[in-house]
Amino acid sequence: MSFNNLDTLYRQVIMDHYKHPRNRGVLEGDVLAVDMNNPTCGDRIQLQLKIEDGTVTDAKFDGEGCSISLSSASMMTQAVKGKKLDEAIRLSKLFSQMMLGEDVDTEQFGLDDIEALQGVTKFPARIKCATLAWKAMEKGVNDDE
Ligand code: FES
Repeated sequence: MSFNNLDTLYRQVIMDHYKHPRNRGVLEGDVLAVDMNNPTCGDRIQLQLKIEDGTVTDAKFDGEGCSISLSSASMMTQAVKGKKLDEAIRLSKLFSQMMLGEDVDTEQFGLDDIEALQGVTKFPARIKCATLAWKAMEKGVNDDE
């Protein structure tokens, strides 16, 4: 596939998560809530994690943000559901490495769509958008431990 076609495909994946976010909403019951903003634009995300026996059993988010931040939140919640806390943190670090332009094996996320966010590295101003939900998740898990 040519670079142009790949860019188009990646854009479509991002817009699909933006327009049809997975796991957007509010969880009921005893959940861990994290509210985090992107200091560069003021956009906010509210993340809720349900943690049982050291595993993220459910995750939902809400908030306002750009297509990059909300699609990343959508993908992140998909990626961490069912993961042990240390694995969720490891994936967040891996995502940060990817945003730094490091060559990471994206298969480790267990979600092909995340690869679409690799292109964000070409736009440094948007990296904080892409990492917002992941940082919120990391903060929630670290505060819980
Ligand atoms: Fe605000 Fe992307 S511009 S999160």
